[in-house]
Amino acid sequence: MPSQRLIHTAAQLTTNPRTLTPMPKARRVLMVRPTHFNVDTPINPHMRKADGSLHTLDRARALTQWEALKRAYESLGFAPTVLEGGEGLPDMVFCANQCLPTLTRTGVPRALLSNMADTIRHREVPLVASALAREGYETQPLGERTPKTLFEGMGDCLWLPGRRFLLGGFGSRTAATMYERVAEAAEADVAVFELTNPRFYHLDTCLAILDDSTALACPDAFSSAGWALLNAIFPRVIETSLEEADSPRFACNAHCPDEKHVLIHPGSTRTETQLRSAGFVPVPVDTEEFIKSGGSVFCMKLMFF
Ligand code: ARG
Repeated sequence: MPSQRLIHTAAQLTTNPRTLTPMPKARRVLMVRPTHFNVDTPINPHMRKADGSLHTLDRARALTQWEALKRAYESLGFAPTVLEGGEGLPDMVFCANQCLPTLTRTGVPRALLSNMADTIRHREVPLVASALAREGYETQPLGERTPKTLFEGMGDCLWLPGRRFLLGGFGSRTAATMYERVAEAAEADVAVFELTNPRFYHLDTCLAILDDSTALACPDAFSSAGWALLNAIFPRVIETSLEEADSPRFACNAHCPDEKHVLIHPGSTRTETQLRSAGFVPVPVDTEEFIKSGGSVFCMKLMFF
């Protein structure tokens, strides 16, 4: 059986990814209710203010914002499956991170389970795995959790919509060495990107794939080889400024579930204009309370098949 390829540079991208084996798009949405959401234990650079102090969370407002995000998906025709947050798991609302949903070549839905960098967050994994098992998924652990086997699911690893092709980030939460294993288990080639700026600690903080030809991305998060590779994969790359990509706006953590509407935290006016001129429809959804934890729209849901 041919082995899957890892692609690190534009020169190694010898096939146009849009000509690869088609694969269904993930059209189902999982969300985790932020019942036990908290920002009292900082585990990424956005969780502290510039003066080093912690953010104050407005819990009621967080719940209202989460409900509005759920309604935004509903109004676009997606009915999120809701999982309750686990007690003592302050970050579980960010359910993009605990696994990578895949479909085998024979059509079996299979979730590759994350090895989360943070010990407390790692306890979220079995809860999300059970939720997907209830939806008919096989769940596959990716081996013992060690510093060399860290992997944070769809925080770092993103499908090219409709194709058997993944984009994977490493350097902060996911170990570079994991992508051999992910590629084999997902039966897909993976374009691999080193995340060079600690403020962009997951690939989904600096890259949103809008459709199979368009990406929204912040150049400051990538190495020059990575930026060239991204531009080789996508005919159209909409560049965000560092100012709009960084917190408190988090423009690249937007989500386009239908190749048209882009759910995005309001305030990234330049990005919104660029999206409109590229034919997309920005849909502002306030996620300010969650950005205090270093996550916005994209992190707050899991797309599955
Ligand atoms: N506080 C969470 C963490 O640091 C935020 C996760 C955001 N998720 C994401 N996919 N970027 O893990």
